[in-house]
Amino acid sequence: MKAALEQFFAQETDDPLRYAFQRRGAHMPGSAGEAVLEEEHQLVWQEIQQSKRSGMAVMYLHVPFCANHCLFCGFYRNKWHEEHSAPYADALIKELELEASSKASQSSPINAVYFGGGTPTALHAKDLARVIRRIRELYPLSADCEITVEGRIFHFDDDKIDACLDAGANRFSTGVQSFNTKVRKRQGRKASGSEAIRFFEGLRDRNRAAIVCDLILGLPYQTEEVWRDDLRTVVDLGLDGVDLYTLAVFPGSTLSKAIDKGACDPAAPLPQQGAMYGEGLEYMHRQGWKQISSSHWGRQTRERNLYNTLIKSGADCLAFGSGAGGNINGYSYGIHGGIVDYMRCLEEGEKPLSRLHRTDPLSSPLNFLAAGIEEMRLDLGRLERIEPGAGGFRNSINPLLSNWQRTGLIAGEEIISLTTAGRFWHQTLLTYLKAAFKLHSASLQPETKTYQEEAA
Ligand SMILES: C[S@@+](CC[C@H](N)C(=O)[O-])C[C@H]1O[C@@H](n2cnc3c(N)ncnc32)[C@H](O)[C@@H]1O
Ligand code: SF4
Repeated sequence: MKAALEQFFAQETDDPLRYAFQRRGAHMPGSAGEAVLEEEHQLVWQEIQQSKRSGMAVMYLHVPFCANHCLFCGFYRNKWHEEHSAPYADALIKELELEASSKASQSSPINAVYFGGGTPTALHAKDLARVIRRIRELYPLSADCEITVEGRIFHFDDDKIDACLDAGANRFSTGVQSFNTKVRKRQGRKASGSEAIRFFEGLRDRNRAAIVCDLILGLPYQTEEVWRDDLRTVVDLGLDGVDLYTLAVFPGSTLSKAIDKGACDPAAPLPQQGAMYGEGLEYMHRQGWKQISSSHWGRQTRERNLYNTLIKSGADCLAFGSGAGGNINGYSYGIHGGIVDYMRCLEEGEKPLSRLHRTDPLSSPLNFLAAGIEEMRLDLGRLERIEPGAGGFRNSINPLLSNWQRTGLIAGEEIISLTTAGRFWHQTLLTYLKAAFKLHSASLQPETKTYQEEAA
């Protein structure tokens, strides 16, 4: 085990923010577990629906349409046309109605609802409103339920904002990426920087919801000066929350091809991204904002970031909409990404499942690790107390923890906290911790004997 851990060691450096690793860890999906046969999907789904749910839970609705494909983004699926709005809202409502009365839906409150995409704010005002209203009529939302609508500035007009608020949305998460017009336009963002500022002022002045925006650091043409302006603008606008995401340039993505062709300047290299993250963290701290997760900050208590926190900790997630994924009562599932298949299943009165898996027993400890890294505070002693398979994990990864401590990524003995550098590299630390946990649990499995050994 000790030798195997060395592949996860950070480089010995006195500047871990810039140089701890040579690449960022890829996001590792949790273990999928055993697949349910396709012909049994609907039968097993009915059984899942008839069992009670417990614990905190969230609801996710996916709207897989965008007006255009922004260069940096890997979430684009379908081109938006105005005539998609009413039929897609009808389909979401039908899907919501299909399972609304089941035990799984009704047995315990839902603490957060999230409309994600794609671009939920592409839907027409009246369609957004009727979907939100139908959720509130049909599902047991907690009294303080966070209801977030994600979207972009383009297409998000006053009528839509007011329709969402009147229907019950209490949080908007809007991707801005940068307020600099050149940086925005080169990534395919349609609104200018000043239009973005005016949009947020209008939303803020209504004072009826938590306003959150996403910034990306390391975009082409985003100099350090531009980055400082971006941070300052969020604070000066008095928004409630901000995500500071580090740009990932996926191989084969539109951005990577544009850079390779010389049509776009390269993204900031990793050491520069680390420095930009460090600057962002310090700036938000000086302005009195609270860091809620490795990439999220809130100004005051109005911003709770509840959906993201719960989803990272593995809470049950009731999912709706083409391309969405959820997990409930010990199963994880995906919904057809093809709009035609999605609509056809709903017309036949079926949940449009594209996959259904029994949750892997390892998913619970792996979720614990993910939640701890997300909260920047990991209590491995508690993991060992609550997860039967996790006994001895802390001891078995001692050499790795010592390396991360020595190289300035983590601090603390009993409870591990992430330093500024650890927060920047959080995805890498999580990828490696999960891999180390899998190695540890494999080392605890009794070796399978061959037939001859059994017979002897
Ligand atoms: C699911 S996307 C939806 C955003 C919304 N449709 C918009 O256009 O602003 C949510 C966020 O993911 C982030 N994101 C997308 N691609 C990214 C990438 N390659 N690297 C870092 N962050 C990315 C962006 O900040 C984006 O706002
Ligand atoms: S950033 Fe938003 S609008 Fe642009 S492609 Fe991604 S999901 Fe679509």
